[in-house]
Amino acid sequence: MNADQKIKVCFVCLGNICRSPLAGGLFEDLIREEELDHQIESHSAGTGHWHVGKSPDPRMMATARSKGFHLKNSAKQFKAQDFSRFDLVLAMDESNFSDLEQLGSSINLDGKLRLFRSFDPKHNGQMDVPDPYYGGDAGFEKVFDIVHRTCPEVLSYIKTTFLKDR
Ligand code: 4NP
Repeated sequence: MNADQKIKVCFVCLGNICRSPLAGGLFEDLIREEELDHQIESHSAGTGHWHVGKSPDPRMMATARSKGFHLKNSAKQFKAQDFSRFDLVLAMDESNFSDLEQLGSSINLDGKLRLFRSFDPKHNGQMDVPDPYYGGDAGFEKVFDIVHRTCPEVLSYIKTTFLKDR
């Protein structure tokens, strides 16, 4: 890979209004804090089309705001051709993972599709970031905790895998 090319990461959930915009936003803050934003880009998308163009869910934004994070996103749908744009595509749950796998079935994904929680040091075999959409506030808090502790691990992986020779 060309050293002046940015490493592009995309977090993918179902609707791109709860879990993946949180991950995309927190990861964006992290790379800015570490002054790596000239080397890494953070994106998010959904496998579904229902919420395209919408801002993150107000409940997800409120949870993030209560922890000092401002979420900004316009929902997008992940398309098969997006696999070629990204170096790492992180599915927020196993259902998102299999939808993405199917979408990319005729493409060599080259190991770029991974489960987000495979980076969570506390996953304990629970590989899904649970979908909070139909539940209460506790679900959004849980999503926040998982995403908040896992994003730094994703960044460490990118540093050792993609940035080590830069
Ligand atoms: P997300 O949550 O995948 O984390 O954005 C959902 C958002 C919307 C729906 C389901 C999950 N929905 O069914 O509309």
